[in-house]
Amino acid sequence: MKVFRTMLAAATLLAVSIPAAALLPGEAEDGKPLHDNFCTACHVSMFGGDGNSVYTRDTRRVQSIEGLMGQVAFCNQQTSAGLNEHEVDDIIAYLNEAFYGFETD
Ligand code: HEC
Repeated sequence: MKVFRTMLAAATLLAVSIPAAALLPGEAEDGKPLHDNFCTACHVSMFGGDGNSVYTRDTRRVQSIEGLMGQVAFCNQQTSAGLNEHEVDDIIAYLNEAFYGFETD
């Protein structure tokens, strides 16, 4: 019973801390190294410079946080980077913080 109550308390704490980041559960600081390892080289070869212009070009395709989620998931599949869902979340958080700046709450 005591264990159950402790678990319940932990679950309640968790539920309280989630809403602010409901849409973006990832951690930007974890996403950056993943992004640099798995995603940058190809963007550099395609777009030159540090590769990040793909996110800031006038004709960029991603226009919403949902679009960003979709694009990252798609790129992960296409490139068989094999990132798990948490890693994908981290990269989404990183890209949004560093480049896109969509409202997430
Ligand atoms: C094999 C090459 C390649 C790899 C690897 C790659 N990308 Fe891309 N990515 C592209 C190309 C090419 C585009 C531009 C597509 C277009 O303009 O239609 C792009 C576009 C994007 C965009 C949309 C930019 C915009 O707003 O227009 C995002 C976001 C993105 N990539 C994220 C990622 C992430 C995250 C990874 C790593 C998991 C990744 N990419 C790995 C080639 C790659």
